[in-house]
Amino acid sequence: MTIGIIGAMREEIVPLLALYKEYESMEIAGNVYYKIAYKGANIIVAYSKIGKVHAAISATTMILRFGCEKIIFSGVAGGLAKGLNVGDLLLATKLCQHDVDITAFGHAKGFIPEGKLFYESDKYLCDKAKEVAKDMNLSIKEGVVASGDQFIANQQIKDSIVKEFDAIAVEMEGASVACVCDNFKIPYCIFRSISDSADGEASQSFDEFLESSAKISAHFVYKLVDKISL
Ligand code: ADE
Repeated sequence: MTIGIIGAMREEIVPLLALYKEYESMEIAGNVYYKIAYKGANIIVAYSKIGKVHAAISATTMILRFGCEKIIFSGVAGGLAKGLNVGDLLLATKLCQHDVDITAFGHAKGFIPEGKLFYESDKYLCDKAKEVAKDMNLSIKEGVVASGDQFIANQQIKDSIVKEFDAIAVEMEGASVACVCDNFKIPYCIFRSISDSADGEASQSFDEFLESSAKISAHFVYKLVDKISL
């Protein structure tokens, strides 16, 4: 079994590399891929750089170059739903691109012809994630995660994403990884821990909590991989 784990930023994968300890590294198309032999499985870890295009490059490379059979994303997100706090862990049941807009042609916001408005995370991975959360005595929130090439730090924009997509969190990569995996028929799952509330204070909160929240998501993904790689 070969499993790919993607983060967007260095801070999102450093905790994983620290947990796995030993790895080989390889540079492809401007990204470093870390190859880990773990309990008979191959694990490929990389950070893509921020944004949907970069994440799509990494997901495609993991599938075509490394033969990844499952892809997991680990990182941080801005919370949209009421009651979400910094450090809360989320499982994206569905992902959408909130910044796609060809409504001028009568399409729904977020929809691209021959694509999907919502991409669904793999059921097996989601079920395993819920088992792992239970084992860890950790509460994991589930819902729609909206991705776009924008850092959301504004209450009105935040409200409009909630209204349009019923999203619980916002980030900048998940839906592009979902789109790549859906097209290649590779099971995937996206995990995020809250770093900010996508409001006027989001950038300060992000800077303060990026590392600690990234660690929460990475530790969880490490446990999940442990469960599914056997
Ligand atoms: N990732 C973490 N916080 C975010 C935000 N507020 N907007 C977009 N991506 C994020």
